[in-house]
Amino acid sequence: MANPFKYGTVVSGEDFADRETELQNLTSTLKETVRIFLIAPRRYGKTSLIKNVLMTLQRQKFLTAYVDLYWAASSSDLMELYTSSVVQGSKSIAKRAAHFVKEFLPRLRPSLSFDPAGNPEISVGVSMESRAEVAEEVFNLPEQIANSQGKRFVVVLDEFQEIMRIGGEDLERQLRAAIQHHTRVSYLFAGSKSHMLIDMVSEKTRPFYQMGTLMNLDKIPEDEFKEFVRSKFTKFGKEISPTATDRIFAESQNVPHYVQLLSFYLWDHYQDLPVIEEHHVAEAMSFILRSQEPAYLTIWESLTSHQKKTMKAAAALQGQSLTSKESVQRFSLESASNVSKSLSALCSKGILRKERDRYVFEDVLLGRWAEKV
Ligand SMILES: Nc1ncnc2c1ncn2[C@@H]1O[C@H](COP(=O)(O)OP(=O)(O)OP(=O)(O)O)[C@@H](O)[C@H]1O
Ligand SMILES: [Mg+2]
Repeated sequence: MANPFKYGTVVSGEDFADRETELQNLTSTLKETVRIFLIAPRRYGKTSLIKNVLMTLQRQKFLTAYVDLYWAASSSDLMELYTSSVVQGSKSIAKRAAHFVKEFLPRLRPSLSFDPAGNPEISVGVSMESRAEVAEEVFNLPEQIANSQGKRFVVVLDEFQEIMRIGGEDLERQLRAAIQHHTRVSYLFAGSKSHMLIDMVSEKTRPFYQMGTLMNLDKIPEDEFKEFVRSKFTKFGKEISPTATDRIFAESQNVPHYVQLLSFYLWDHYQDLPVIEEHHVAEAMSFILRSQEPAYLTIWESLTSHQKKTMKAAAALQGQSLTSKESVQRFSLESASNVSKSLSALCSKGILRKERDRYVFEDVLLGRWAEKV
């Protein structure tokens, strides 16, 4: 029987739990001409939510484009990715796409072909000297298509913080210069580096200053997500005890990816058991941590001995009161100021992040592993 839990991929339909309010809010907001910054830590379900919103909007005849900036190595790469995503998103009018691309992108000398499934594939030649003009054309493409078709476009730029790596403030400025005039296109900028994104919209000197509304995506309400997990088990003839469910959510800290990962493993590993109990969750967790160990050891070996001790303290104390006298003593951390230095090093390495009054592990499982090392 196919495993009903999914991770490492976008989830939709019956694999997508709750998020009703967010789905409705985002869908209806994006119908207006808006610019939204959607922020949430890694693995909270941003991309899945976005893809579900886009599917709904497509059904309502909106043109939509999804661009994942993570895949662009350079500005010219981004131009190609952006163009093909916009053309791909105009699938409902794909036959006319060749015409648009030639008309609206004269500088790019685009070549367009169709794969066997009829999806447009585009390649463009971007020369260095014409970069700014090319960017202008490319970033204006959705508005041009929307105008010429009397439709509305919704464009998503996922992993938006990557724009700095790809083309720095120049690229940011080019994007802003184009989109600020758009009246038929809504933009959703999503990402997990909350500081970088918040800085972009809140610092006066930045091109995206006050260019949009910030929206934080929270965890899925725990009760609803528990019910989702429980019903997946029972629907396929397996029981899970309430304490086992609680344990899944404690171990995974209710981060959707880890909830699904742990549930996937439980389903897979205890196929012949009629009831999953709490100790099965504990066993599953140990197994998963062992399988991650080589990767975690590489991270561990890259740290100074003080950073290692600070990381262990963060794991043991759930990231709280790390600079207190007792904590410094208990974990031999020398001084509060040394702890602060190590914490900021661990944050810039992407191992921890600050969340209100505490530090949390970006990778929940790494936190669990660090408790035991
Ligand atoms: N609404 C949901 N219901 C059930 N599982 C979910 C939901 N949203 C996300 N997940 C789980 O979390 C995993 C990660 O989701 P997704 O890739 O959408 O998150 P993300 O925030 O975009 O992550 P990243 O920061 O890595 O880009 C999915 O593969 C799935 O296992
Ligand atoms: Mg994502």
